[in-house]
This record gives sequence, C-alpha cells and structure tokens, in this order.
Amino acid sequence: MITLTKDMEVGVAKIDAQHRELIDRLNAVTAMGAKSVSKEETQKTIDLLGEYIVKHFGDEETLQKQSGYPKYEWHRGQHQLYIGEFAKLKREFAANGVSAKFTLDLNNSIINWIVRHIKSVDVEFGKFYLSA
Ligand SMILES: [Fe+2]
Repeated sequence: MITLTKDMEVGVAKIDAQHRELIDRLNAVTAMGAKSVSKEETQKTIDLLGEYIVKHFGDEETLQKQSGYPKYEWHRGQHQLYIGEFAKLKREFAANGVSAKFTLDLNNSIINWIVRHIKSVDVEFGKFYLSA
C-alpha cells in the first residue's frame, strides 16, 4: 500500500487530487492480490485503474499544453511508455491471473514507476506551472 507523501505533492490542486485517486486505485489492485476474490472482480479493479491512468495523463497533458510547458512532448512520451507497461500487466493478468510475475510487474513497473514519476517529472512541471 502506498500513500501520497509530502515529496509527491505537485502543488497544483487538480493534479494532487488526481494523484490521490490514482494511488487509491493502485492500492485497490494490490489489495485484490492479497484477498481471494474472483478473477472478474480483480479484472474490474484493474480496468478502473486503467481508465483512470488514461484520464489523469490526459488532464495533466492538457495543463502542460495550455501553459506552454517546454517539456510537454517528452513528458507525454513518458506517459505513453507507462500506458504500454500497463497494457503488458493486463496481458499477464489475462494469461495467468495474479501470478508472481503480475505482482512483481505491478510493484516495479507500475507502482514504483509512478511514485518516481510523480516525485521527479510531475513535481518539476508543478514548479513550472505555478511560476508561469
Ligand atoms: Fe506525469
């Protein structure tokens, strides 16, 4: 389970609120692995997370574009890579359910990645946005 720590705050209310929601949905998927729930229920939780990732990235990119953020294209590229990793996770789930590989990929490629991303590149954008 992860929480939004002080060093993950971007300073833009909309983005911080969405990051909290995103983390709640990530934690919900982690919780599915720990409980014995049906594959359908886990699938639903994964899909809810996936939809929110796309919505959140889109909203963040819109703010970047509107504010003329110079690293917009690069940042968007990072989001695209993440969406690719998430698609891989979904394929692993479809093939083998909550396997050891699924749990490993969820922790490394999805959870740790987003924490690093928020702390570095999102915080960097927040500084730009607030000074723009
Ligand atoms: Fe981002």
